[in-house]
Order: sequence, then C-alpha cells, then structure tokens
Amino acid sequence: MSLSPHSDDTHRLAGPLLAIASGKGGVGKTALTLALANAFSRRKARTLVVDADLGMANIDVQLGLNPRGDLSSIVAGHLTLEEAVTPAAGGADKSGGFDVLAGASGSGALAGLDSNAVSRLAGGITAASLTYDRTLIDLAAGAERSTIRLAAAADDVLIVINDEPTSLTDAYAFIKMLRMRDEGASPFVVVNNAPSAAAARDAYATLAHTCQSFLGFTPPLAAIVRRDPDIPDAIRAQKPLAVRHPDSKAVQDISGLARALERGVETV
Ligand SMILES: Nc1ncnc2c1ncn2[C@@H]1O[C@H](COP(=O)(O)OP(=O)(O)OP(=O)(O)O)[C@@H](O)[C@H]1O
Ligand SMILES: [Mg+2]
Repeated sequence: MSLSPHSDDTHRLAGPLLAIASGKGGVGKTALTLALANAFSRRKARTLVVDADLGMANIDVQLGLNPRGDLSSIVAGHLTLEEAVTPAAGGADKSGGFDVLAGASGSGALAGLDSNAVSRLAGGITAASLTYDRTLIDLAAGAERSTIRLAAAADDVLIVINDEPTSLTDAYAFIKMLRMRDEGASPFVVVNNAPSAAAARDAYATLAHTCQSFLGFTPPLAAIVRRDPDIPDAIRAQKPLAVRHPDSKAVQDISGLARALERGVETV
C-alpha cells in the first residue's frame, strides 16, 4: 500500500540492527520479521533473523526448519554463531534466503535471564550482526525489562500494531518504556493486518497523537500491511510467505516496507 508523505522530515534506518516489537501479542511480529528478512535479502542484503522471543520462540516452526543450534547454545558458549545459524531457503530463483538464529523453542530456557545475562545476550546479538548487512530481532510480546533491553540495543525499532485499541495501548506502553531506557529512541510504526487503508490510518493517527501529546514526538509510519489470508496459509504450510505466495498482497506491502525503511519515510 503506498503512503503519501507530506513533509521533508525524513526517517530511515540508522544502522543494520533492527528490532521488531509490538507490546501486544499475536499482531504479526514474527510473520512480518520473516517476510521483511526475505525482502531485504532480495534487495541483496546478507540477512540474519534472531528469534529473541525468550519465553516462546517459534521461528523455526513457522519456517519448518530443523535448527542446528539456538540462542541458548550461544549464551552457554557451546556453539559459535556460524555453527548455530540455520539457513532458510529463498524462492525458486534462489533470492530471498537468509540465516536464522533460532530461539530455544517452547522450552522457556531463556525466559527469566538475569540482567547481566540479557546484557551478554544483547552483546552477542550485536556481535553477530557485524557479519551481516541486516539483522532483524524478533522480540517477545509484552514490555518485560529484557525485551526493552534488547530493543534498546538495536539501531532501530519497528513497532507492529493492528487497528484494535488494545494493540494501540500496548504499543504506546512499549514505546514509553523504550524511551525511558533510551531517550532518543524513535521507533517506526507498521500497521499490520489492515482491513482497509482508512482503518489503518486511523489506528496510526491515534498512536501518533498519543505519542506526540505525552512523549513529545511522532513515530513515523513506515508501512501498512494488508490483511492477507496468504500469511496464515504460509504459516500452516511452514513455508516462507514469499516462497509460497510470491505475488501476494502482503509480500508487495512488505517489499514496500523494506524499501521505505532504507530510502526513508516522511512524517507530517
Ligand atoms: N497481514 C496479515 N493478514 C492476515 N493474517 C495475519 C497477518 N499478519 C499476521 N497474521 C496472522 O496473525 C497470527 C499471529 O502472527 P504472528 O505469530 O506472526 O504474531 P506475533 O506478533 O509474532 O505473535 P507473538 O506475540 O505470539 O509472538 C498468525 O496466525 C498469522 O497468520
Ligand atoms: Mg512471534
């Protein structure tokens, strides 16, 4: 869905490490992270996805991967990054592949890490990102201290919302906590699962207005991703969206998101 910018106040990615957050669970962080990784890869960026949902990691399940290692094996020092990452295939033309650093799937092995361990984890992810052009961190829902800490370690944060009021209040709470930790943080917003452009714009306007009123800044809108049954279909098939449905509406919107993040989006 194309956006119509109104001013010359342009925001683009500040660096290679991008965290994907939401506050509310189930709004599409993981689906979006994976499709965005595919889009960056098709734009010739060597891309890593880190499953940092420390309590309930499931990227390997969404992609049908059998992970060679995971975050916990790196935290424990049992594997190096190169040994731990698992390649996720691209499409038939071989573009769109990326590496995945799986979480500790469903085991909760990384839940409840103390703050030193989370700092080490953040350091490990930052170090890992140095060998890639783009690294995407798929965060847990909620605004736990560890989640905020990992978001603050990234160069940029993408907040995924939908048009439900609970998503907006939770996203606001997340942004507020993030700014308490990192004063200069100015996350991008993506409205996902949009039933219409008007509903998505209303949702964004509500969040933007609240942020401007109470936090003194307007988070830029990076993209609107349409509601698309191809997303749940791809998850059920455990295949990357762009491999199973290369021409889907969501793939188009998420390609636009990758472009917008790199070229810059403008706020009113
Ligand atoms: N644009 C979309 N159109 C239709 N369905 C979508 C869209 N985005 C996500 N979904 C569906 O929403 C559900 C949740 O997606 P996903 O697991 O990516 O969310 P999440 O934010 O990562 O959840 P969690 O907070 O549990 O990690 C899935 O069933 C997915 O198919
Ligand atoms: Mg998820």
